[in-house]
Amino acid sequence: SAVDLQEVHDFLIGIAKEAGDMITAAKPTGAASGTKKNSVDLVTETDQAVEKMVSTSLKAKYPDFEFMGEETYKPGDTLTDAPTFIVDPIDGTTNFIHGHPYFCVSLGLAVKQKPVVGVIYNPLTRTLYTGIKGKGSYLTDPFHDKPVRLPLKHEPEPMPDLSHCLVAVEWGSEREGNDYDVKVETFRKLCASKSDGGAMVHGIRSLGSAELNLCAVAAGQLDVYWECGCWAWDVCAGWVIVEEAGGLMVGAQKGDWEPNVDQRRYMAVRKGEGQRTVAEEFWECVVGRVE
Ligand code: IPD
Repeated sequence: SAVDLQEVHDFLIGIAKEAGDMITAAKPTGAASGTKKNSVDLVTETDQAVEKMVSTSLKAKYPDFEFMGEETYKPGDTLTDAPTFIVDPIDGTTNFIHGHPYFCVSLGLAVKQKPVVGVIYNPLTRTLYTGIKGKGSYLTDPFHDKPVRLPLKHEPEPMPDLSHCLVAVEWGSEREGNDYDVKVETFRKLCASKSDGGAMVHGIRSLGSAELNLCAVAAGQLDVYWECGCWAWDVCAGWVIVEEAGGLMVGAQKGDWEPNVDQRRYMAVRKGEGQRTVAEEFWECVVGRVE
């Protein structure tokens, strides 16, 4: 039977607020955090407690749905065609630990491996981004009672070319290997001057939350976001929000117009004339191949 996406969306918003309260009540310290695969892949008790609360609530309400969460994922777990909640209790854990206010609760639903509902909540700014496939995406912020339709720029300006773009990239938690080398060389190229003395891009940002980067693309605050190394729970919710705001989700590598939610290498380009050309121009800047 068809999933009631509106009902899921409304339920997820309630959970996001509850998770946000747990996060703002917590007092993370560097000492209280642990690591997963290496010394920069951080996790706190709050990440784990929030994921537990979220998965318990979702399993009670939707017992037949699958669940994939950052803190309970095991290597080899795969996404199936069943309706699956894809959850990151805190996206931007490093920022959370350091008290940097760019992190969020990320709650997504995929059906047949396609993202269809996204709810992203930054409990510090109390900014809530939501999207339902086919029904648009919205921003609710503490200064507006009514949802504001994304993108924030109602008539987004055209993107003449990549040199006019504000671009987000992330270093991620892998600091060695092929993809790391490709990233570093690509970042270096993006930061450099062109032979005509112009710049490759207006600026580069690395803010530490994949989901909030996607929300910023949806809102027209970033033009492009390119990442290699994050996971389905870092992008599932934002994917819906970007696409419903007229943004484009593609792969990180040249020609990949139809990415999967769990392929770990992506690019988002905001709504606006020139969108596909900017994606192609960015692909030309990628030095080597991500694996
Ligand atoms: C991380 C953030 C970061 C991205 C990493 C993710 P986490 O998520 O989204 O921006 O570069 O790849 O793992 O670990 O804070 O949930």
